[in-house]
Amino acid sequence: MLFTDVIRTKRDGGELSDEHIHLFVDGLADESIPAEQVSSLAMAIFLNSMTFEETAKLTIAMSKSGTVIDWSDAGLDGPVVDKHSTGGVGDKVSFLLAPIAAACGCYVPMISGRGLGHTGGTTDKAESIPGYNTAPDFETFRHVVKTAGCAVIGQTSDLAPADRRLYSIRDVTGTVESIQLITASILSKKIAAGLDALVMDVKVGSGAFMPTDEQTLELAKTIIATAAKAGLKTSAILTDMNEVLGTTAGNALEIEESMAYLRNDRRDTRLDEVVLALCAEMLVITGLESSVDEATLRCDEAVSSGRAAEAFGKMCAGLGGPADFVDNSGKYLARAPVIRPVHTAGYLSNVDVRAVGNAIIELGGGRRKVGESLDMSVGFSDVAPLGTLLDAERPLAVIHAASQDDAVQVEKLLLNACQTADSAPSLNPVIHRKLSGQG
Ligand code: URA
Repeated sequence: MLFTDVIRTKRDGGELSDEHIHLFVDGLADESIPAEQVSSLAMAIFLNSMTFEETAKLTIAMSKSGTVIDWSDAGLDGPVVDKHSTGGVGDKVSFLLAPIAAACGCYVPMISGRGLGHTGGTTDKAESIPGYNTAPDFETFRHVVKTAGCAVIGQTSDLAPADRRLYSIRDVTGTVESIQLITASILSKKIAAGLDALVMDVKVGSGAFMPTDEQTLELAKTIIATAAKAGLKTSAILTDMNEVLGTTAGNALEIEESMAYLRNDRRDTRLDEVVLALCAEMLVITGLESSVDEATLRCDEAVSSGRAAEAFGKMCAGLGGPADFVDNSGKYLARAPVIRPVHTAGYLSNVDVRAVGNAIIELGGGRRKVGESLDMSVGFSDVAPLGTLLDAERPLAVIHAASQDDAVQVEKLLLNACQTADSAPSLNPVIHRKLSGQG
């Protein structure tokens, strides 16, 4: 069969057969299908959607496109569990949640993604740590998971290689925002990682991929149902992405905020709520705790006692990063030469978070084309939460840029992305709702 037949079937609104799906997945994995044909099919799927059956078949086929990890002979004395986010801006949850869950008795083999569209990628952020290897060999990955309790790495060429290629092509072809493609992308990696259970962080709001709350809910339900079909127990928490999560956005800046959290120096309230809610759900879904309240206390204690910081330190050193990184992160992270506070006046009432994410790409902190290298130092710090009274003292955010020209240009983008009001706005709860399913 010619691959153009597959493209035509979906272009004309038809249903992909098993043969079509296998041709697509095999051709993605061995790179025999050129990028223009992959992007053409991705666009046809984006426009004409896929049925639940097609989505489940694509997910399972992509999960088997490379190695599927089996942890049963690794001698682990706790559950293998992970969290994955549908993507946001300032979302540094993985760097906190993985070591917290590890300190609570979980094993977290986290295969993360690079930046996608306007959202930042955990793999890119991890690479701002000097020496930290996001593509270790399999034995190192396994060893770090076993000894540190967690390993946050990037997609390797062995795990779900079909998604790795499709992801990088979707990133630059306007085909990210498809419920079916997001589901297959996320779950193929998670199934290949050999998890016992998964907790999804599904972002809702102006910085989320799906433009409406209804579509976001449909995404969460599709992920849970598809995971159940593939035998993976999954629950989802819908969390707010109507503003940047935490006080920073940009690779090295987010890592610095994460280390400050693990050191108990600064824990942003909304970030803390999201981290603890997702992490507590990991303990509950795996049966390590029976109530969310008990699980939340256990996660909180893992941070305040320093045990989560210790787990991060072990993971970082095990993957080639500095052994003293948590305590001395400022010494290792790249810093931008230009620092520019952005001022406006009034209560911050609305943020177009997608525009904020795109502004980071303008600064060089995200990609415009496949394989582009990033400036780790750029982004925003001191990002004001919604409801903050902004004035000549309190900036909207502080821009970190490679040049004055970049800073001036991005200041305009940032001011356009934010609205202020004369009175304090009502605020969204950070945790919108929880959905659970059975694998
Ligand atoms: N995260 C992924 O891994 N894939 C997507 O398509 C979106 C978010």
